[in-house]
Amino acid sequence: MPALLKIENLHVAVKGTEILKGIDLELNEGETLALLGPNGHGKSTLLGTIMGNPIYEVTEGNIAFKGQDVLAMKVDERSKAGLFLAMQYPAEIPGVNSSDFLKAAMNARRSKPLTLFEFYSKLQAAYKAVGIPFEMNNRNLNEGFSGGEKKRSEILQMLLLEPDLAMLDEIDSGLDVDAMQIVASAIKEEQAKGRSFLVVSHYARLYSMINPTRAAVIINGRVAVDGGPELIKRIDAEGYEWIKRELGIEIAKEESAMNEVSIGVCATRVAAKEGK
Ligand SMILES: Nc1ncnc2c1ncn2[C@@H]1O[C@H](COP(=O)(O)OP(=O)(O)OP(=O)(O)O)[C@@H](O)[C@H]1O
Ligand SMILES: [Mg+2]
Repeated sequence: MPALLKIENLHVAVKGTEILKGIDLELNEGETLALLGPNGHGKSTLLGTIMGNPIYEVTEGNIAFKGQDVLAMKVDERSKAGLFLAMQYPAEIPGVNSSDFLKAAMNARRSKPLTLFEFYSKLQAAYKAVGIPFEMNNRNLNEGFSGGEKKRSEILQMLLLEPDLAMLDEIDSGLDVDAMQIVASAIKEEQAKGRSFLVVSHYARLYSMINPTRAAVIINGRVAVDGGPELIKRIDAEGYEWIKRELGIEIAKEESAMNEVSIGVCATRVAAKEGK
């Protein structure tokens, strides 16, 4: 059976700087792939590129999903084809009502629109599943949502859109312990239906709840290691230093990645380091 997602020699630049430098990665149907790697090495860039965020410029390589050329598709076509991205930093969308947005997104995938009854039944069930008060469907999308509410809201969208491949970018960051359980159960239910996942997280906790079938580590814009879930435990215990040692990979210093960044950001980082 051909891979559900096949990425070959993917090179991606952001504002003229090459971030992904030849990613090769495959994901089969029903798999849950854990994607790890140090900060700033290209995980979100990879997910954003697969989904079609125009800030990421593909300079070389291919992405195929269900055998289709993803790079030739617009964002909404990618979504209709069954791709979904829960973003690391979900954007606030003032002026867009949550339930209007969800209804439009769901109907875009169907030949016949949902009846109002069907829509509200599904909506109510999804709000219940992620533990957000149903009244929040009247609020603008993500506007003023707490960090955890934004993350739950991404999972709510996933439940309603039923993607074949859900890419979850640090979905566990900022979640309280109960929310982590809720999100893990939602993922497990989808896994049981045979759906596939690409999950980025820095922590073993979520992974231990959803049992990835494989793990890959992105370092310096490439897949440095690809293996079984035991990789997650080793990284959790030992960090990334051993990869550098064993594979002779030089992990780029953060400073070089920060060269392009404005003084303001650096000043904030210094202040944060000094505990201000
Ligand atoms: N919009 C952008 N403008 C400028 N640089 C960017 C932009 N997006 C990403 N980059 C740079 O690309 C590099 C990779 O970023 P990316 O967000 O993919 O890292 P990551 O592996 O997801 O890190 P983290 O674990 O911290 O989320 C970083 O050096 C980052 O500063
Ligand atoms: Mg990221």
